[in-house]
Amino acid sequence: MKIGIISGTGFLVEEGFKFVEEINLSNKYGSPSSSYKKYLFGDNEIYSIARHGEKHQFPPHLINYRSNIYGFYELNVDFIVAFGAVGGINSLLLPGDFLIPDNIVDWTYGRESTYSDIGDTYHIDFTYPFCPSIREELINILKKSGVRFHPKGVYLCTNGPRLESAAEINAFLKLGFDVVGMTLMPETALARELGICYAAVNIVSNFAAGISKTPLTTDEVVEHVKNNDAVIRFIIKEVASM
Ligand code: HPA
Repeated sequence: MKIGIISGTGFLVEEGFKFVEEINLSNKYGSPSSSYKKYLFGDNEIYSIARHGEKHQFPPHLINYRSNIYGFYELNVDFIVAFGAVGGINSLLLPGDFLIPDNIVDWTYGRESTYSDIGDTYHIDFTYPFCPSIREELINILKKSGVRFHPKGVYLCTNGPRLESAAEINAFLKLGFDVVGMTLMPETALARELGICYAAVNIVSNFAAGISKTPLTTDEVVEHVKNNDAVIRFIIKEVASM
């Protein structure tokens, strides 16, 4: 099995992973955010990319999503698992919780969001954007991990990089969105266009704007993701042995 991992923060490897090589790819869409690090875990090949770049230099609206996903296509991965931090809109979602989203709303703009071109159009089916079989596996992994998690929810992708206003979050709550992040679109749709099975693991890093009494800081986001390092390591190891 060849497995693609997109990491939001660092790629956290446990013992059992054997580092093989760093693969530098570039394609007609430009350069991916980082090299693809190849590991072996048992018989599986794992390829990981740092979505924001090795130095976290790419803000969400400047990530080359097309190149990143095309690289996985060239590496011929069987599926992709994408990690990322989110703000909780639904009051049931607390900082430190995990979520396997089952649907998505795209509120981004100005991003290169398709491989379609003149004479080469993809009207992909996007009713259920995430791959059901990989979602199922992730839910089982989270059950085993013992962490508080939610097996479904709607992810809203905003353009960022600014965070939301209290009125925006209030409106998003009324529209039925559960979490907000800035990176899963167009990533999710690009994977579907290339026929790659894709699912996501969201880490709730904060209450979305206006829900918490205290202003949101980047430190808070990083802090919660860091606190969950051990769980993320566990998930990656379980994914690698799928
Ligand atoms: N809003 C948007 N994106 C995010 C947030 C948030 O509150 N937290 C982590 N990513």
